[in-house]
This record gives sequence, structure tokens and C-alpha cells, in this order.
Amino acid sequence: MRVTTETIGSISIVVGLGLLAAGCKPSTEAPAPPNRIQTANSASVAPASKITFLDLPVPPEPEATAQLVAHGKTVYEQNCLACHGAKGDGKGDAAAFLLPKPRNFVQANYRLRSTPIGHLPTDADLFRSVSIGMAGTPMPPWRIHLSDKDRWAVVDYIKTFSPRFADSNEDRSAVSLGTPPARNETTLAEGKALFTKMACITCHGESGHGDGTSAAGLVDDSNIRIKPRDFSKPGLFKSGYSTKEIVRTIQTGFNGTPMLGFHGTIQDQDAWKLAYYVETFVKAAPPAAIVRASQNFLEREKLGDPDVRVNLIERAWKYDPAVIRVKKGQIVEVTFEPTDNGLGVGHGFAISSYDEVAFLNGAMVGAPKTVKFRADRAGQFTFYCATQCSTEKLHPLMNGTFIVEDDTAKQSASAK
Ligand code: HEC
Ligand code: HEC
Repeated sequence: MRVTTETIGSISIVVGLGLLAAGCKPSTEAPAPPNRIQTANSASVAPASKITFLDLPVPPEPEATAQLVAHGKTVYEQNCLACHGAKGDGKGDAAAFLLPKPRNFVQANYRLRSTPIGHLPTDADLFRSVSIGMAGTPMPPWRIHLSDKDRWAVVDYIKTFSPRFADSNEDRSAVSLGTPPARNETTLAEGKALFTKMACITCHGESGHGDGTSAAGLVDDSNIRIKPRDFSKPGLFKSGYSTKEIVRTIQTGFNGTPMLGFHGTIQDQDAWKLAYYVETFVKAAPPAAIVRASQNFLEREKLGDPDVRVNLIERAWKYDPAVIRVKKGQIVEVTFEPTDNGLGVGHGFAISSYDEVAFLNGAMVGAPKTVKFRADRAGQFTFYCATQCSTEKLHPLMNGTFIVEDDTAKQSASAK
């Protein structure tokens, strides 16, 4: 499959899997993958940026039958293994190229939780983090590509990597966030005082840029350098940016990192006051909303309706389809959406020799980009990622083939 020469109207490419080279199976071998992706049009994809962790509607949790867990294993192998590894230890083939590193499910130090520091997340927490992903990191928001059932199944499966989840002594009850106090000069001033008193300042810095006096030497549970959050960059907040999420982070902390939770140490009201103060570090308005579609030079010149529409996806640093075949003279419209955000800057699409008309940068999960151009040169070309989406090892491997057939030469060549 992966052919995209269908004519306008009903294109719907069912995407298989492009796992990383080692151990990569052709998707055709996978028996009816549960994670079929239909990307018929970008309008069907909800914007990823809006929903935050606690705001995600969590559908009722199905019973974790052996069958569901087995289904979760399949979902996992097809979508998660490349990063999180077959053993769930965070050492998939792609892990070497990623920062931060994929979560180690055996260690089970989960960051996004509604439970106190040191505790396991609730099942709903796991469903949430799998669904919304982790902003500013390679962890994709799976609600865009996996059904509720698939996500519950994979949650049940990743729990099996740690025996702690089966231990009935584990307390996984959520903390209450209390009632927000008024946001005014007094509570802001109190928040500021608490920021120093609770030593937030030593890591996050006076300026809130994550450059406090003890920031330099911090490491996480894998002994990898970790930087305190820069509060001036809302897009980097891992569970989405909202007062409630900041309060939750202050209460629960991030397991496996120096970011402790303060539940039980501070008053609920104080967590809110701290959050109000944290929010003052965003000086300018949050970065302009991600542009949904880019218009290139020729599009403004009114190329008209495309002859060919291509829905292109990136998954684990591979394009799908990897080959795009069109005919000389056709107007081609490529809508590109990645399934992860690379190093946080998204992924791109450009065609060598067509770069001046086919060039996209920074397409993000939930925010596809579109480019339209005329295929006026016959031949075989390479398309590649125009965004510096990963470290030097993976990035150059992200490419595909763009074939423009000259039908005037082969009169009878059929569309497929
Ligand atoms: C492109 C690589 C990649 C893929 C594919 C991927 N993840 Fe992740 N995942 C990550 C990274 C990186 C992190 C850690 C981010 C961080 O530490 O901030 C992560 C973190 C997580 C977490 C931890 C959340 C927390 O609270 O700490 C869960 C759960 C998770 N992934 C589940 C999944 C599941 C389930 C899939 C497949 C459906 C998946 N991931 C696919 C890269 C990936
Ligand atoms: C010992 C250092 C340290 C201290 C003290 C500390 N933090 Fe953090 N904080 C971190 C680190 C490191 C991260 C980033 C964790 C990550 O990227 O996974 C972080 C992340 C955060 C985040 C970002 C959450 C998100 O969604 O990404 C917030 C908000 C935050 N801290 C607030 C605070 C507040 C408020 C205090 C004081 C009550 C505080 N921190 C104290 C180290 C610290």
C-alpha cells in the first residue's frame, strides 16, 4: 500500500508501521493491526495542544481481562516498543537518540500523576499521560491515533512491567487540590514568598528560567542531567499549561526527578498561590498558536484544486508512505502530520529539487501542515525532514522517495 496516486476526494490511507530498522517487520505481516490510522483529512484530528492532563475526559475503565492485556501487548509492540523497548525498560531502538529518555516501566517512576510523590499513578493517570503525551518531549499524544479501548489495553499492559501494580499495599489514591484562593496582589505576594521559602528558587531560579543555584548538577533516576522547568515557556510544561496542572505538579511532584511533591508539607491554598506566582514568569503572551496549514508561494498563485492528495505521516522517524508516486503535470497536495514532536520542534517535509515549492517545517502532532505544488519535473527525488527533529543519527534517515512519472512517454501507464 502506501501508494497515493488516487485522485482527489476519497483518499484515506491506512497506515502500517514504520518501526526502526532493527527488528522492523513489514506492516503487511501484522494481522489486522488494531491501530489503523485513518488520516483522511486533517480536520478529523483534534488540536493536540489544548487539552491538559486533568481536563482529559477519561472513559470508564474496562475490566483488565487476559484478552485485553494481550491486546495491549499488540498495541504496545506496534506503537511503543521502538522507544520504550520490548522489556519496557525504556531502551527501545530509538531511545539512544531521544532526550528526555523514554520512561522505564520496570522502574515505574511516573511523573504525571494525581497521587503523592513516591506513589504509583492511578490507572486514569496512565490513561491520561498516554492520551495527551508529554509536551516538549518525544512522547506522542496517543488519543489522536489510538482508540479508547487500545489506550486502556496498553495501560493494562505497561502495568505488567512492574510488580508494584499488583501489590494491594500500594496506595494509589489521588490527592485533593483544594479550593483555589482568590488571585490578587496579596496571594501573588504570598506565592512569591513561598517560592523562596520552599526553595523553588534554588532550582527554578529567581528569573524562573530554570537557572537557580542548584540547577546545574541535577540528574534523574537514570543519572541523566535534568533541567528545572523554564517557567517562561508554557509549551514545555509536560502535562499542559494550566493553573490546575501546576498546582497538581506542586502537590504530587515528578517521581524519579528532583522535582518533589509538596502534598502534606504545604497547605492546599499555598500550592495555588505558588502556581499563581509561577504563572507570572510568562511575560509575553504564550507563543502564537501553532499554525495549522502553511501556504507556500505557489499556493498563493492559485494552483486550484489538487489532482492528488497525499496524507503523509511520520512514525518513529519514518515517513509513511515512504514512496509517493504522481504524474508529471499534476497538482499535488501533501498534508503531513507526525505522530511525535521530534525534539519538541516537530518534523518537516521537503523534496530535493522541489525544495523551493515543497518545503514544510515544524509540523506537530495534531497540527498537520499542508503544501501544494505542481509536479513539473519528471524523475525520482528524495523527500526528507526539513526540521532538525532529532540528533544526528536519526534525522538523516528520515526520508522517502518522490516519483514523478512522465506519461507522455508511456502513454498507457495506468494510475496505480
Ligand atoms: C517516539 C518515542 C516514544 C514513543 C513511540 C512512545 N513513547 Fe512514551 N515516552 C517517550 C518519552 C521520551 C517519555 C518520557 C518523557 C519525559 O520524561 O518527560 C515517555 C513517557 C511515557 C510515559 C510516562 C508518563 C509519566 O507520567 O511519566 C508513559 C506512560 C508512556 N510514555 C507510554 C507510552 C505508550 C503506551 C506508548 C505507545 C502507545 C508510547 N509511550 C510511545 C517516548 C515515546
Ligand atoms: C531540587 C530542584 C527543584 C526544586 C526545589 C523544585 N523544582 Fe520544580 N522542577 C524541577 C525539575 C528538575 C523539573 C523538571 C522535571 C522534568 O522535566 O521532568 C521541575 C518541574 C517543575 C514544574 C513543571 C511541571 C510540568 O508540567 O512540566 C513546575 C510547575 C515546578 N517544577 C514548580 C516548582 C515549584 C513551585 C517548586 C517549589 C515549591 C519547585 N518546582 C521546586 C526541579 C525542582
